[in-house]
Amino acid sequence: MTTVIKNGTIVTADLTYKADVAIEGGQIIAIGQGLVGDTVLDATGCYVMPGGIDPHTHLEMPFMGTYSSDDFDSGTRAALAGGTTMVIDFALPAPGQGLMDALKMWDNKSTRAHCDYSFHMAVTWWGEQVFEEMPKVVDRGITSFKHFLAYKGSLMVNDDELFASFRRCAEIGAIPMVHAENGDIVAEMSARLLAEGNTGPEAHAYSRPSQVEGEATNRAIMIADMAGVPLYVVHTSCEEAHEAIRRARMQGKRVWGEPLIQHLTLDETEYFHPDWDHAARRVMSPPFRAKHHQDSLWAGLAAGTLSCVATDHCAFTTEQKRFGVGNFTKIPNGTGGLEDRLPMLWSAGVNTGRITMNEFVAVTSTNIAKIMGMYPKKGAVLVGADADLVVWDPETRKTISANSQQSAIDYNVFEGKEVKGLPRYTLSRGMVAVAEGKVQSREGHGQFVAREPNGSVSKALSTWKDLTAPRPVVRAGIPASGV
Ligand code: URP
Ligand code: ZN
Ligand code: ZN
Ligand code: ZN
Repeated sequence: MTTVIKNGTIVTADLTYKADVAIEGGQIIAIGQGLVGDTVLDATGCYVMPGGIDPHTHLEMPFMGTYSSDDFDSGTRAALAGGTTMVIDFALPAPGQGLMDALKMWDNKSTRAHCDYSFHMAVTWWGEQVFEEMPKVVDRGITSFKHFLAYKGSLMVNDDELFASFRRCAEIGAIPMVHAENGDIVAEMSARLLAEGNTGPEAHAYSRPSQVEGEATNRAIMIADMAGVPLYVVHTSCEEAHEAIRRARMQGKRVWGEPLIQHLTLDETEYFHPDWDHAARRVMSPPFRAKHHQDSLWAGLAAGTLSCVATDHCAFTTEQKRFGVGNFTKIPNGTGGLEDRLPMLWSAGVNTGRITMNEFVAVTSTNIAKIMGMYPKKGAVLVGADADLVVWDPETRKTISANSQQSAIDYNVFEGKEVKGLPRYTLSRGMVAVAEGKVQSREGHGQFVAREPNGSVSKALSTWKDLTAPRPVVRAGIPASGV
């Protein structure tokens, strides 16, 4: 059975051209003019692009005394509805839990996935077992390790642990990632705010200003540089963090920054809303920022100093958010966005001229596939690539509403936003998962995607590190070893 997408314009990270796409066995088998097949999908007036890849989701994640409410079923349905055909979720070992053991739990959850998926492994504590298991995780095709510099007392690791883990990543050709906020300062500021009677959701933003993110981002960059590894900075939300990344890149350091669609389009005024629920539903870390930070993030996408746009999808119901009435530090941190990332970025980015269509593809798909070691299986419109595609209609409009979303929660942080540009079809390995707004995907269709370690950037860095490694100076008459 061959499916052909006809009459569309292919948009990739570097090309825009008219051609049909033929698909068989879940892969692209031909790209050209006048292709024929058993099933035809009409793409007249549409762009045919690599499906979105969300490099940062938390589906059914145990966090802050509860579980995030979108699981691999509702979460991946939401992804497909919005043109995203793959997610990378975080396997999160409990303190003292082995990495392979945690992975089993995430393997079980993900059997429900409607679209393909992979995992990052979180390093939430440090010890011999973690050190020994890291290469086993890489052998399983999980080649990125996340570190939290925030959430003191639960997920946070200290600088010595961070350095040890980064060095281990260097040895095994893996990519370290960081949540960069200074957890010591956040804990101190939170306690002080509470003591002063600042208990509402707005105090969440007061407790983690852009300085704590700028400091932690710069620190992680310097530690990665000393360890000789590249670094992926998740949810870059402010100018200070962007500045650190920009400066590092200009110095030849290999650092990638990942703004979220939420930080690009929503700002800190949300936390001053008179309705407690409205404000608490938007509590996430880092918090939404002032407008000038948004301008910095948009500029970074255009300049190429920021590389990927994610969601950090971590959805909690209003009921869950109310755990924090009277104490903002107990509001589960996280917001949703899986279904809305592409339409929001297209509307606020491409339709306004802030980014080009090709940059849109780069930051939502291709760059992510390249950085994360799965290009061109994912993130490409090429013969032999997986047919994870979105047929994008730039003229279709909708108003975002929780009433029509796939997500399991009872609100949407983008409620009321008008978007122009939506999927006509979303294809997951050739299967039409969404057609004209109707989700017809299948639970369990999603497959795990094993990723490659030792990408070209890791190889280049380790070559340079070997070349510049400390070597003893040989001196006449002085033996090399002490005594
Ligand atoms: O507030 C957030 N971002 N929640 C999800 C966990 C994380 O820090 O990424
Ligand atoms: Zn985080
Ligand atoms: Zn500022
Ligand atoms: Zn996250």
